[in-house]
Amino acid sequence: MPERSTILVVDDETAILEVMRLNLESQGYRVETARVAEEGLRLLAEKIVDAVLVDYKMPGMNGIEFLEKVQERYSHLPVIMVTAFGSIEMAVEAMKKGAFNYLTKPLNYEEMFLLLKQAVEKKRLVENVQELQKAVKNKYRFDSIITNNKKMLDLLEVVDNVAGTDATALIRGETGTGKELIARAIHYNSVRAEKPFVKINCTALPDSLLETELFGHVRGAFTGANRDRKGRFEMADGGTLFLDEIGDISQNMQAKLLRVLQEMEFERLGSNETIKIDVRIIASTNLDMEKAIREGRFREDLFFRLNVVPLYLPPLRERKDDIYLLANTFLERFNERHKKTIRVIPPDLMTALLQYDWPGNVRELENCIERGVVLSRNDTLEARNFKMFEVEPVKRKKTEKDILIELEEKYAGFPNTLALVARELGINVSTLYRKRKKYGII
Ligand SMILES: Nc1ncnc2c1ncn2[C@@H]1O[C@H](COP(=O)(O)OP(=O)(O)OP(=O)(O)O)[C@@H](O)[C@H]1O
Ligand SMILES: [Mg+2]
Repeated sequence: MPERSTILVVDDETAILEVMRLNLESQGYRVETARVAEEGLRLLAEKIVDAVLVDYKMPGMNGIEFLEKVQERYSHLPVIMVTAFGSIEMAVEAMKKGAFNYLTKPLNYEEMFLLLKQAVEKKRLVENVQELQKAVKNKYRFDSIITNNKKMLDLLEVVDNVAGTDATALIRGETGTGKELIARAIHYNSVRAEKPFVKINCTALPDSLLETELFGHVRGAFTGANRDRKGRFEMADGGTLFLDEIGDISQNMQAKLLRVLQEMEFERLGSNETIKIDVRIIASTNLDMEKAIREGRFREDLFFRLNVVPLYLPPLRERKDDIYLLANTFLERFNERHKKTIRVIPPDLMTALLQYDWPGNVRELENCIERGVVLSRNDTLEARNFKMFEVEPVKRKKTEKDILIELEEKYAGFPNTLALVARELGINVSTLYRKRKKYGII
């Protein structure tokens, strides 16, 4: 069972504090209470708290001032502001000041539990990401690679060891699993980091072009070659050459590559002069290489030359424990890029993300979150912008009038019905009278 979370409730009314304590404890939370904001701040300095519920209207320091102080001292601690019935301006003010969310009186406990769950999760996640990133950074300095998965962390360990050597590596994995990311991590963590990282996509080019791209040519080597040109091998001298999608190259190119890998020397097209180079080779493929070898499409000797250090990236569906972390990391990234402040991925949507198979792997997830962020309105991710999911429609929200009628029914028969209703709503009786008139309740 996960460790219990602690909620701090700040409200000047003792009766409310007691009701909240009972309700929250029934949900398994630990509860701390404070009757004034200063006491709340003191508690925060002493205890580990996971989320705060604070009443807007309090004598002395009010909820907003309290929120500001909390933000200064504990920037990741989510604060939920409780505002009086019908006072949307206060809620807006609180959100602008960085409240995690707000609740309006009368409290809907289901809504409160849901918000608290999200708030606590969010705080855990931020801390978790920070911790993991710190751990990964300290250990491998691979800050761009986000993962929490055992297989991936083992892989990073190998990557870290390989980075220190000049060994050739073959990175395998489905499309979008992060092959290029790993290739770059190896380069930038090697002694070659200051030298160039040169990439060539082997499938994007027809054979003849691939050859001049890799080896360069001299003037007059073929029609149109009107000056000398360096190839990628020369450009990468001292650094790393990343042969992306190596699986599809022709037999002819396979033979030529094999020679270069063996001798670390070659000639430019149209030249007899042998050029010596010092290049570290990293290759990648999403093909089934064993099958390609069996069927005679890929030379076994070249495969062995490349596959000195085999690195395999599992598809995202086989490391679903990364989805939560990646999705939230991408959310932060695209919030920043697109100037949004979406706080959470709604639980229904997260469930759908976790269930989906992700044929396009991390890239597909990244694109999917970006699209959701760009199309979001009111800083909320909308399920309908996530095409592949069917999410239940949200229940209709109660109107102010519904709430008034419901509460009056609840307290009907009490001698002081309206005073009780006003109290539960956090407004005074004259305001309640005005609202009743507005909605024609008599
Ligand atoms: N573990 C990860 N953490 C953060 N971002 C990731 C991770 N894995 C992949 N990505 C991101 O997903 C996208 C795809 O990654 P990358 O280009 O490295 O994949 P690939 O395996 O080379 O894909 P392809 O086979 O289609 O070329 C990139 O934007 C990359 O930054
Ligand atoms: Mg790639």
